[in-house]
Amino acid sequence: MNKALRTPVIAGNWKMNNTPDETKALIAEMKPLVAGADCKVVLCVPYIDLYAALEAAAGSDIEIGAENCHWAEKGAFTGEVSAKMLKAAGVPYVIIGHSERRQYFGETDITVRNRVRAALNEGLKIILCVGEMLAERKADMTAEIVSAQTEVALSGVTAEEMKNIIIAYEPVWAIGTGETATPEQAQEVCGMIRALIARLYNSEVADATVIQYGGSMNEKNAAELLAKPDIDGGLIGGASLVAEKFAVIVEAAGK
Ligand code: 13P
Repeated sequence: MNKALRTPVIAGNWKMNNTPDETKALIAEMKPLVAGADCKVVLCVPYIDLYAALEAAAGSDIEIGAENCHWAEKGAFTGEVSAKMLKAAGVPYVIIGHSERRQYFGETDITVRNRVRAALNEGLKIILCVGEMLAERKADMTAEIVSAQTEVALSGVTAEEMKNIIIAYEPVWAIGTGETATPEQAQEVCGMIRALIARLYNSEVADATVIQYGGSMNEKNAAELLAKPDIDGGLIGGASLVAEKFAVIVEAAGK
């Protein structure tokens, strides 16, 4: 299937930034800038900001997501939030398996898989993050690491459920460093992920799956990355905290 038949998704990952009031102000600033976008626009925000974000984005083209969710429906998991709670709050998207969760909070391929299962059970749309560390790239292990992360996270996910999965390829060495993967490096891995999905499911599922690049994507390099055949969008950190920069990336995705 032609790339043009997939709707690009530009998602902001605000990480641990913005209070509820700052959330409302930034979304109000973004709304007119991204109105009528030719791609899907999602903002993933801290749990505490979700209601403010949903309220601020109501009636606009911006959809809201959380940055994580737990695998259990409820229980003794201090500090966690379940997929069921997100669903009940009216949150349509959730990021799962971000490298910062893997690096700093003990997230493993198995816990990522469990969270994916919980989110799918609630009908949430998932942005599933995969990506290699610098040492792994240097050791020529990128394909192996990214394939294993993807395959484990998707184990038990049906072809039908793949409609609710977006995969974000985020090389860890490119996150927050200003060092972006070259369009060729990003394309190589995104293409490899699509081939893996074709093997795990079939070419129809692979052709329909949105695969994003993330890692220092910004208003200057987005167009070149998004022009690649297997890059269907971006997961944006720093540049999603500045309305004008984010709007330029959204614009680039629609072209
Ligand atoms: P930066 O765009 O700040 O590099 O962050 C990327 C990221 O981690 C998005 O999830």
